[in-house]
Formats: sequence, C-alpha cells, structure tokens
Amino acid sequence: MIDEYRDELHGEVLHDIQTAEYGYKYRLLEGIVMPPYITPERYKLSRTLEMRDDDVCFISYPKSGSTWLSHILILILNEGEIPADTTLRNCVHWVASSWPYPRSREELDSSPSPRIFKSHMPWHMAVGGDTVNSPCKYIYIARNPKDVAVSYFHFESGKQWSGNYSGPWEHWLKWFLEGKVQRGDWFNHVLSWWHHKNDGNVLFLKYEDMKRDFDNQLDEIAKFLDYPLTDSTRSKIHEKSSFENMKKNNFSNLHEIPELGSFFRKGQIGSWKDMFTVAQSEQFDRIYTAHTQDSGLEFEFE
Ligand code: PPS
Repeated sequence: MIDEYRDELHGEVLHDIQTAEYGYKYRLLEGIVMPPYITPERYKLSRTLEMRDDDVCFISYPKSGSTWLSHILILILNEGEIPADTTLRNCVHWVASSWPYPRSREELDSSPSPRIFKSHMPWHMAVGGDTVNSPCKYIYIARNPKDVAVSYFHFESGKQWSGNYSGPWEHWLKWFLEGKVQRGDWFNHVLSWWHHKNDGNVLFLKYEDMKRDFDNQLDEIAKFLDYPLTDSTRSKIHEKSSFENMKKNNFSNLHEIPELGSFFRKGQIGSWKDMFTVAQSEQFDRIYTAHTQDSGLEFEFE
C-alpha cells in the first residue's frame, strides 16, 4: 500500500513511502527496503560524490556497532581527544540520509579533510560509487545477526521518524529473516562486503572482536588508516570509547536527538537470549548456516 507520509522531522510530504503490516513505513531503493529518510536524491548524491584519498567511510548493517566505530575513528584522527563544541553526529557525513539534516554537495565538497562518511548500504550501493576504483577507505563492521535482530527490534519499535513499527518480536524476527526490514537482507548485506574484505581499501571488522580484543582491533584500524598510535593515545581511546563513557559523554551519547530513545541499550554479546525462544534460535541457526557455510564468515554468539 502506498500512501502519503509526512516526514515529521522536516515537514516534507513524501509520495513513494509504502506501509506494510504493523504500520511499518519504508521505501524501496534498488529493490531494497530502506527507511523513509533515505531518499532517491540523497542516495544518488552519495553515489556520485568526488572522493578523496584521505576520506574514510564506515559502514554496517544497522545495530552492528557503527556508532562505536565512528567514535573510535574520530578519536584516532584527533590523537585520542574528543573534539570540543560539537557532537559525534556533526563530525560524520551521512549523505544518503535527510536525517538529521540533508547535506548539500557544496557542503560536502568544501568540507575539510579528512572527511568521515557514515553508511548503512550493501556493497553495490556504497558511498562514492564503485569502491574498487574509489580512493576512499571503507571500514565495515558486522555483528552476529541474532544480536542485530534484537537490537534492531528495540530500536525500531514505535519510532515515529523511522519505520514506526508496532508489531511483536516474533513478527519482526520473521521479517528480519525474510529481508523485509529496512536495509534488507542481513545475509546479502554482510556477505556483499565480506566478498571485498581483501580489497586494499576495505577493512572488515566484527563487533565481537572489538568487544573481546579491543586494543588489537584498534591497532588494525589505525594501521589501515595509516595513523600510528602512541601508548598514551591508545589508552585514551580505549577509555573514552567504552560503552559506559560513550553513554555518559554529551559528545557521543546522542542526547541532542531525543527521538532515538535509549540508544545505548546493552552493548553486549548474547543479549539475543533475552528474546529468542529455543525454537526460534534453532530455526535461525538453520537459515544462518545455509547462507554462510561456504563463505568462511563466522560469528561468536555468546
Ligand atoms: S545504528 O543506529 O544502526 O547506527 O546502531 P549502531 O551504532 O550500528 O549499533 C548500536 C548497537 O551498538 C551498541 N553500542 C556499543 N557496544 C559496545 N561498546 C560501545 N561503546 C557501544 N556503543 C554503542 C549499542 O548499545 C547497540 O547495541 P544494543 O545491543 O542495542 O545495546
């Protein structure tokens, strides 16, 4: 069903928004379910940007630790210090999104280097077009899909500005596995970047590795970006990007966007166990194995 949908944040009336069961709002881009605030015009702009060789783009399927990664990137580029008089959201360019505000090509072209871009797109919809021929560095973070499904359910439920989803967990899980939630099929998304993990300008990270082995993962990121870290910078980044400190600090806690609700929810591995029944977990495992078994991609679930 297609109806008229008013974007509450910008007062815009959008005509290509569809409403699915439980009031879920979305639009299709390249045949993939997207949030209403990802517009065709903004998507096109993100694909046709002139990229620079010191641009960095972080990417994830939603709810996979991308905000955490972005905070780490900012700290690396600022020698472990949090930039003054701004917020994390203002330090990154989310080009395909009209939220928190639409960025113009002029603003992006005149932004000082190094620019940091945020994206939740699969590989074939990447910022800057074809990543293989782009000078930009791309860092993808993936998380085990059971935790992603749970985190995403809490995040999306009842959010007016996004999908405005009002359904129960079992329905959400079914949709997640069918690729009907915003950003589409988790398996296609993650595998699309996994297949490019050996490209020279792509770094593929996992949320679980960041949780368990932070310092080594941090060194990987810094090496990839060509920003060597001193011991003092490394320990500042470790401390400042902890879940507790990001939640407390007004630079990173997204307090300026009250619509987000409690964004820093749990920050743990294994919170899927709070929601999945045994039967749901077994069914999920079967589908997960079928999609990933020949790929070499593995996740920790506990
Ligand atoms: S979004 O909205 O798609 O951009 O979300 P994203 O930032 O990718 O993922 C949100 C989840 O990441 C958790 N998070 C963290 N975990 C560990 N350490 C730190 N510092 C951290 N910061 C955010 C956040 O709590 C979400 O996961 P859940 O499981 O919901 O807590």
